[in-house]
Amino acid sequence: MSARPGPPEPVPPPSTSVPGPESAPEPGQGSASAFLAACRREQPTHTPVWFMRQAGRSLPEYRRLREGVPMLESCARPEMVVEITMQPVRRHGVDAAILYSDIVVPLKAIGIDLDIVPGTGPVVAAPVRRSADVAALRPLTADDVTYVTDAVSGLRGELGGIPLIGFAGAPFTLASYLVEGGPSRDHVRTKALMRAEPELWHDLLGRLATIAGEFLRLQVQAGASAVQLFDSWAGTLSAADYARYCQPHSAAVLAAVADLGVPRIHFGVGTGELLAAMGEAGADVVGVDWRVPLDQATLRVGPGRALQGNLDPAVTMAPWDAIDEAVRDVLRQGKAAPGHVFNLGHGVLPGTDPGVLTRIVELVHEVTAGPLPASPAG
Ligand code: CP3
Repeated sequence: MSARPGPPEPVPPPSTSVPGPESAPEPGQGSASAFLAACRREQPTHTPVWFMRQAGRSLPEYRRLREGVPMLESCARPEMVVEITMQPVRRHGVDAAILYSDIVVPLKAIGIDLDIVPGTGPVVAAPVRRSADVAALRPLTADDVTYVTDAVSGLRGELGGIPLIGFAGAPFTLASYLVEGGPSRDHVRTKALMRAEPELWHDLLGRLATIAGEFLRLQVQAGASAVQLFDSWAGTLSAADYARYCQPHSAAVLAAVADLGVPRIHFGVGTGELLAAMGEAGADVVGVDWRVPLDQATLRVGPGRALQGNLDPAVTMAPWDAIDEAVRDVLRQGKAAPGHVFNLGHGVLPGTDPGVLTRIVELVHEVTAGPLPASPAG
């Protein structure tokens, strides 16, 4: 069922210099990138680091730029998307950029009436609960999201050799917003629907998988070098329910971009009991939150997958000495995995001092630079 990653992509000829804006690597191709190397379980020059939600509310330059512009409108302005995506890259020196957008953008693009309400999150005007609502969910086409692909193309030049991560919401996470009508703690209506009407549920998730898969394909074709699937709310499910109602659809999204040769990251929150199933869903990298140490997580995920994570975002609010110790712990535990991309266990909190994020990037680079001991995992 799950699409295993194929053989490694052909490695491009070694380049003597970091590609400049004129010679950005082709989509999906390798470069001197530590991020891509770690995702592919090759030997990176140092442990790469980026932050989920690195673009956004922790940055004063972001808040200034966004003044008076609603979230979804900002996502539809390519120049603004390019600038907001670049802000944390310039400031922190991270090893990858993540496209500034939102998981609900492709849903809005196929005509669903929704908005992102500040301080609340996505709110859907007419929740999806009946078969006619599901039947109205049409596939996404390239014409629906030209503002996204224009931004991705623009970013290739701006970023030079730094990889851009494209992303999509996983079917369960998207379904939760559509069925509940907004953010939810317990996902009660969503869980009721999956049990009451399994056929309708699988129709809904199948459609969302098609939309998410196409959204990722379009981003990669426009120049994204990796993708992340946000199965953010999957951790609310038992392992049995995840396997039955959710994982096959996430696996379908990952399979939809398997032929493009770019690393695929699969992330969720509270997934300690789901890591084995996530390891089987087909991604190259499994993102782990802060609840499971990475040396344990790699045993649960299984061999052949790199890990991403997993500093508790709240730790960024602690005194520096405590942060330093926690970062070193994550790096030590991450050595047990066949590849490690340093990240937080979930998104940057709005109150995080951006200066602390910059220091974390410096620390990760400093601690891990230099020749790594030979590892049988290669
Ligand atoms: O830096 C990045 O990670 C890039 C962009 C990004 C955003 N949303 C921008 C955003 C990404 C990758 C997302 C994904 C996303 N959106 C997820 C999956 C990630 C996760 O947290 O697990 C989810 C669940 C959403 C839905 C969503 N959008 C929520 C819950 C919220 C927060 C609402 C609030 O104001 O508290 C949003 C809004 C949103 N998406 C913001 C940003 C920068 C904040 C909007 C603002 O600044 O006004």
